[in-house]
Amino acid sequence: MSDSAELIIEGKSYKLPVVVGTENERAIDISSLRAQTSYITLDSGYKNTGATKSAITFLDGEEGILRYRGYPIEQLAEKSSFIEVAYLLIYGKLPTTNELADFDKQIKEQLSIPEGVQKILSGFPTTAHPMGVLSALISSLTAFYPESLNPNQPKDEVNNNIVRLIGQITTIAAAIHNHSSGSVSSAPNSNIDYCANFMSMMFGGNNSEYEVSPVVVDALNKLLILHADHEQNCSTSTVRLVGSSNASLYTSISGGVNALWGPLHGGANQEVIEMLEAIKADGGNSKKWIEKAKDKNDPFRLMGFGHRVYKNFDPRAKIIKAACDNILSNLGIKDQALDIAKELEEAALTDPYFVDRKLYPNVDFYSGIIYKALGIPNEMFTVMFAIGRLPGWIAQWKELHEQKEPIGRPRQIYTGENERDYVAIDAR
Ligand code: ACO
Repeated sequence: MSDSAELIIEGKSYKLPVVVGTENERAIDISSLRAQTSYITLDSGYKNTGATKSAITFLDGEEGILRYRGYPIEQLAEKSSFIEVAYLLIYGKLPTTNELADFDKQIKEQLSIPEGVQKILSGFPTTAHPMGVLSALISSLTAFYPESLNPNQPKDEVNNNIVRLIGQITTIAAAIHNHSSGSVSSAPNSNIDYCANFMSMMFGGNNSEYEVSPVVVDALNKLLILHADHEQNCSTSTVRLVGSSNASLYTSISGGVNALWGPLHGGANQEVIEMLEAIKADGGNSKKWIEKAKDKNDPFRLMGFGHRVYKNFDPRAKIIKAACDNILSNLGIKDQALDIAKELEEAALTDPYFVDRKLYPNVDFYSGIIYKALGIPNEMFTVMFAIGRLPGWIAQWKELHEQKEPIGRPRQIYTGENERDYVAIDAR
């Protein structure tokens, strides 16, 4: 295959290099296009634009393939733990027993949050959406660890910021939940699994005997692994873009949290469960809601359906659907929302509207049902996603710096007024 592409503009031919990835993905390198031709490319929503070369996650939307550092998501979800996957994403290889134990220890030494963060949290209304609070508190870490602002920190200090954030995000998230619900936060317990400690901080209160079921720990590990990275999606691109200005790790991740919050992205998991509950309250007629989703005059969309890159199936949704059945039966929970979800999925997958547009359930379609079964309130669902996505954001931020990428700065095609003279206010 050719290693260059030919572009003809106004009869003149230009050669542009072709870049080939390790999975044979091909791109036309247009970095010299403007200098050569004075043209730029235009691609609203970056639907067809590669923003970087990355060695972290491989995704083939047509085939429904997702791999972290080459390892299939199915194997990682079945056999690994969230902390091991975090290590894999951030450092590029599976850890040895000692490396994993050391990484886990470093994270567990960082579970306590500064008192000042707790004070800032207490100033938020209890009704504040947890995602806004999470973003603010992560950003506030720059005030407590000002050394993190230095873009040229030595490697060890960057690593301190990394493990601190992985540790503290769970304590911050649990504190946010307890602030909203008026419950007492229990102190972090560094003697138990990362996910078990999180659940215990969420729901343990003053009960030092509180124990988290292994079924719950397993489910949470799986969910977090499935969310841990997804290459250049909206929030990850945000983290890379903010990070490209040499903004600190905490500031960049805080930006990612805000991007994730939107209902078209991570916020969809909350919207899905609210949609299923609305359908249930409306009598459970899924056909009616499918028709609404197809009606172009109705703003309603089937939340948890469709994906920018998966056009066959979302491999994460497949794993989550099976996990969902398993967890509900293990916990002895019967949830009508799951029946409605299955009905909706079946109806949508046989409807030409969804088939023609290649719209399939995405990762968010079933994850909310599991979170609900674990007792996590709806408004915390996207926070759970953020905890899961954190290692991916960190790995992408770290890679951006290791690759010494330039500041991100897209161009535009201006469509406004041409130059005109100012008109005095009394003459308008
Ligand atoms: N329900 C009904 N119709 C839909 C849906 C949906 N969920 N998703 C896409 N469509 C239709 C669009 O109306 C459009 O139809 P048209 O061609 O007749 O105009 C067509 O399918 C293509 O949709 P786009 O919005 O152009 O696709 P895009 O790639 O820009 O958007 C997105 C992808 C945002 C995920 C979209 O499918 C959506 O809004 N889904 C619901 C929200 C959701 O679940 N988001 C979570 C995504 S996963 C994640 O971020 C973790």
